[in-house]
Amino acid sequence: MASQNIYILGIESSCDDTAASVIYNGRILSNVVASQKIHEEYGGVVPELASRAHQQNIVPVVSQALKKANIDKSQLSAIAFTQGPGLMGSLLVGTSFAKSLAFGLNIPLIDVNHMQAHILAHFIDEKGFDKPSFPFLAMTISGGHTQIVQVTDYFDMQVIGETIDDAVGEAYDKSGKVLGLGYPAGPEIDRRAQLGNPKAYKFTKPKVNGLDFSFSGLKTAILYFIQKETTANPNFIENNLNDICASIQYTIVGILIDKLKLATKQTGIKKIAIGGGVSANSGIRKALKDGEQKFGWTTYIPKFEFTTDNAAMIAIVGYLKYLNQDFANQNIVASARLKI
Ligand code: KG4
Ligand code: ZN
Repeated sequence: MASQNIYILGIESSCDDTAASVIYNGRILSNVVASQKIHEEYGGVVPELASRAHQQNIVPVVSQALKKANIDKSQLSAIAFTQGPGLMGSLLVGTSFAKSLAFGLNIPLIDVNHMQAHILAHFIDEKGFDKPSFPFLAMTISGGHTQIVQVTDYFDMQVIGETIDDAVGEAYDKSGKVLGLGYPAGPEIDRRAQLGNPKAYKFTKPKVNGLDFSFSGLKTAILYFIQKETTANPNFIENNLNDICASIQYTIVGILIDKLKLATKQTGIKKIAIGGGVSANSGIRKALKDGEQKFGWTTYIPKFEFTTDNAAMIAIVGYLKYLNQDFANQNIVASARLKI
């Protein structure tokens, strides 16, 4: 099959990033992302604004992806798009665009599950990055998702744990809001955490059975703690910000690693691949590396641009499905709650 010239255009529009990418036989030729800045002033993604911004961005982003890949749209073999999960108004823009383009070019249309794509991003050909062999565990951690998935084959996956309330990225972003940091706060908390004492303050970890996660209690605990301390000392935050960030990070990373330890024990699988924006976190990266020494894990962290929401991951799934001739038809619709 690889002797064929397969060009897939991937389109991602599930949340607040409008993205397009061209992949040629498993190798990324272009990966364009227009991140929407408009949400920063609201401290979170505003669905209606996201949808409107996708409408403005989609044509220029796709043209740029084709231009950077140095191909014409007539050379495309198929169009892959994110069907879900995500915000309905956002998904509709990418879905309608992909359907019309595939129809106009008379080429196959390929539906992609965003959560599967975060995992299959590990199969993009990239120098210096190993691909995991099956079976492996995938932990997807971002502002929208927190899942542990047992991956038996490309399209044979089972969710074995997930958040029952907030996503881990939300725990970062909401804690950051309490501390007066900008949105999204994850990177800034991470930066400061590296300068502070992780044991300065103690936050209790939530007690959730099995492999599921909960982060909403932690967010409330942090809020009450900050309210109490700032009542006693109005300068508490600015005097102790690095220590507070380090303590929050220590707690969150501890929660993630505890669940991974349990997942490896329950499944007997010691290969762990991570994805999603929070996998940029220095604390989680270090803890995973430590796990290699301590527990015999093999860990996989994709290149940063394939970790946050992007269209290269949609294009690689498109390529894998193209090889299976697994196509969608023009009746397909976006699905906000699509499951793995
Ligand atoms: O995957 P992503 O770009 O978008 C989705 O949420 O789907 O992830 C963004 C999330 C935000 O919550 C952001 O605060 C968090 O990832 N994040 C981080 C770091 N970099 C991004 N959280 C902790 N540490 C980081 N270094
Ligand atoms: Zn995502």
